[in-house]
Amino acid sequence: MQRIGIALDIDGVLIRGKKVLPQAIRAIEKIKKNKVPFILLTNGGGMAEANKAQELSDKLGSEIKPYQMILAHTPMAPLAANYSHNDSDAVLILGKDTCRDVAFEYGFKHPILSEEILAACPEVWPFRAPSDKYSPVEINRRVGAILSFHDSLDWGRDIQIRQKAGDNYCNDSNRKQLPVYFSNGDLVWSNNLSLTRLAQGSFRNALENGLSGGRKLQRTMFGKPCKSTYDFAKNAIDRHATELYGFNPGSLEKRLYFGVGDNPESDIEGANRAGWASVLVKTGVYESGSHNATALVEDVEEAGVLVAKKDY
Ligand code: G3P
Ligand code: MG
Repeated sequence: MQRIGIALDIDGVLIRGKKVLPQAIRAIEKIKKNKVPFILLTNGGGMAEANKAQELSDKLGSEIKPYQMILAHTPMAPLAANYSHNDSDAVLILGKDTCRDVAFEYGFKHPILSEEILAACPEVWPFRAPSDKYSPVEINRRVGAILSFHDSLDWGRDIQIRQKAGDNYCNDSNRKQLPVYFSNGDLVWSNNLSLTRLAQGSFRNALENGLSGGRKLQRTMFGKPCKSTYDFAKNAIDRHATELYGFNPGSLEKRLYFGVGDNPESDIEGANRAGWASVLVKTGVYESGSHNATALVEDVEEAGVLVAKKDY
């Protein structure tokens, strides 16, 4: 099976919260048995690709290689080259602490966290005392951009810090518009709570609404449904086909790519925009109603069966 390739979404397709869907284990087994090149493509993240690949390998009982794991922030790695020219170049990373380790791994010289700004400038968000765990960010750092790698841990704090961040995060006179990069635009996502959860796109909306004077946020989007993420995903599928199964790279152009996911706005929209076939499952965000997917199936196992039929 070399002429198809699959990108499987994670939350709402393979897992719900900490629980692995049994259909997912069976689907991966079949996909591997049929030698279909595949990757996992998620708008989640907050950790290194290798760690997430290990976590999913353990959960699914089947090895996932680090390059098969595309997190929301994975395609943001090349941005490091733009923000590492000077010793004082810093970027503010939104998300949990492990996001800073990821940024170092990508090559950013001085990734800093909101908590470090708060430690240096507690009046930015006076409603919670800075934690002793974090050192105040050095005063000579110039914040060149904000990178939202994962969900903000404190929307109010981070919206306020964005307003403060500039040439010097504590100096009112230097306040300026910083570019903001978001790793995903999802409004909601699905874990094991019966309600859908607010996702990074909802935070972005709040942040944009928090801008004063009718200013527009200077923003760049990554993750699903962005085309750049699907281009990245396509390369990873092709690499999997070539490295793991020794398929002829000459045949890669004929590959038919499938995006399997639970979120019509993200997984289905993204696959459609990229010219892929899109398969919508009912185990996550989507429950019923209109959709633009190529196919609607119950779960990822049924998606695997449907995709296998398309091979030739
Ligand atoms: O947007 C939140 C994120 O956790 C969704 O993950 O795997 O459904 O793309 P996923
Ligand atoms: Mg999902």
